[in-house]
Amino acid sequence: MNKNPMVIANWKLNGGTDLICASVASVLQHDFCAQIGIAPPYVYISDMANFLRNSKVMIGSQNVSKFESGAFTGETSAQMLKEVGCQFCIIGHSERRQVFLENNASCKTKVKRALAAGLMPVLCLGENEQQRNLGLTNDIIYRQLHESLEGVELNGMDLCVAYEPIWAIGSGKAASPETVAEIHAFIYQELIGIFDKPTAARINILYGGSVNKDNAEYFLQMPNVSGLLVGGASLVPEHFAQICVLASKSCAI
Ligand code: 13P
Repeated sequence: MNKNPMVIANWKLNGGTDLICASVASVLQHDFCAQIGIAPPYVYISDMANFLRNSKVMIGSQNVSKFESGAFTGETSAQMLKEVGCQFCIIGHSERRQVFLENNASCKTKVKRALAAGLMPVLCLGENEQQRNLGLTNDIIYRQLHESLEGVELNGMDLCVAYEPIWAIGSGKAASPETVAEIHAFIYQELIGIFDKPTAARINILYGGSVNKDNAEYFLQMPNVSGLLVGGASLVPEHFAQICVLASKSCAI
């Protein structure tokens, strides 16, 4: 990999002032060469971005509106997120697909909105348990990738893709590192087809699903795994920092 690994914390609907203080203090103790990002709930973004302004830690959102502005109660636009200090936004997390009925078409609109506002999209993909048991994993991922990214112009901007098998999220049953490597290789090949080889090589492909401080390094050692998207373990600041330290060991320099 010709890029440094990336570790992103997805706090989901968790956290508050105490976690913000503890997490900021924890990440500021280190100078990670891995790229680190934290996605707290919307309302904390501005504060966190200010606290981390002089650090390399990126702040991001867990979602973004597919609309630009107007009568869309409850929505937050990519431009607004950029203005309050976001550098990336998570798009198409399985919880949003399952609970809020997002689909590949809406993800594509969101990816375009994010890029237009100068935010790095972190596009999430992954199959559910039934699809996995039916041997449909690659088909699902193929559709998610192609329907969300085909025709998207990166224009030199960064994009990140996160493979998060739904059955591994919050279950304590992470996918095996070998399985992850196999699927990441498939994702990389498809990204070459959608964009081109140099562009695909620049895209960090993260694994997410029950990653913790004890298993993180096994994923980071695998080919085509260039980072992690961490849920539960990111709510324990020392654990998250330990994962970032591990990722920093596989930096290119
Ligand atoms: P867990 O790490 O809690 O399994 O969550 C993964 C996830 O959904 C990150 O986006």
